[in-house]
Amino acid sequence: MFRLKTFAFLAVIAVLILSACSTAAPQETAEETSCAPNCEFTDMVFCYPQLGAESDWRTANTASFKETAGDLGVRLIFSDAQQKQENQISAMRSCIQQGVDVIGLPPVVEDGWEPVLTEAKEAGIPVIIVDRSVTADSSLYASHIGSDMFLEGQRAADEMNKLLPDGGKIVELSGTTGSGAAVGRAEGFRANLNDNIEIVDSQTGNFTTAEGKPVMEAFLKKYEGEIDGAFIHNDNMAIGAVEAMKSAGLEPGDIVIVSVDGTRGGFQLMIDGWVQADVECNPLLGPQVYDMALALMNGQDIDREVLTDETVYFPNEAADLLPSRKY
Ligand code: AHR
Repeated sequence: MFRLKTFAFLAVIAVLILSACSTAAPQETAEETSCAPNCEFTDMVFCYPQLGAESDWRTANTASFKETAGDLGVRLIFSDAQQKQENQISAMRSCIQQGVDVIGLPPVVEDGWEPVLTEAKEAGIPVIIVDRSVTADSSLYASHIGSDMFLEGQRAADEMNKLLPDGGKIVELSGTTGSGAAVGRAEGFRANLNDNIEIVDSQTGNFTTAEGKPVMEAFLKKYEGEIDGAFIHNDNMAIGAVEAMKSAGLEPGDIVIVSVDGTRGGFQLMIDGWVQADVECNPLLGPQVYDMALALMNGQDIDREVLTDETVYFPNEAADLLPSRKY
């Protein structure tokens, strides 16, 4: 009898301790942020699990988030996932545990985000998808802000059509397999490409200079003298591809190139005659994303899709514009 009473007493104490623990550190949600509706940037803890540092575009994107956070007084929790989705997911889970106010997610690939987005939603932490898109249901995140990758592909095809009016054979150096940028650009390009232009091969260079170079080397060997043009999904891979073309003894214009990004490196390739058109993709998203995050903290509605206004750059303006390029 004594043992039974002791057990019951201990069980009651255990329940009391457990319930005290669960209420001691409540999960602060965006809707419940104590500063709302008057939150300021200095109240914000913002998580940015960056996907990597694969390109000059990415470096500029990281700088935009870091510098803007410093200017505004936002507390930024930044990490670099080295192009690995599992690292991004771990970083997000850590941010969820820390109870950040808002997460900005630049997803390395489109698929596989449902579980962690659901965890963020259940914790009351809104997620803004930044740059590339996800295939997850849009009810799992607050907004997507970034470039229209399909439109970028269409613009690239329009330029290729003008460069090869009589048709020809081209190769494609694609971005990271399964990424929203690579998928959208490839689909948009094919949607607008003239029938008389044949894509003879397409391989990924993972958006890096180091991987773009061997891809172009292999193309040049396999299709010796047959390639008229190249659609290259970013400027860093174009830099690698041009290195391969120089080593193979090619001259600027032997293979016309349409690239994407509009980085300083891409502008230099246009000035040097290697790239004939560079489709803009703007990485400077920090200020807009922090504005959106603050609106969410204050319980305000934000647009569910925000597409960046972009253009196409050409060699005839490259020298004038290069000094003012921010990335
Ligand atoms: O998602 C944007 C793309 O990612 C940029 O075109 C590329 O340079 C970067 O790596």
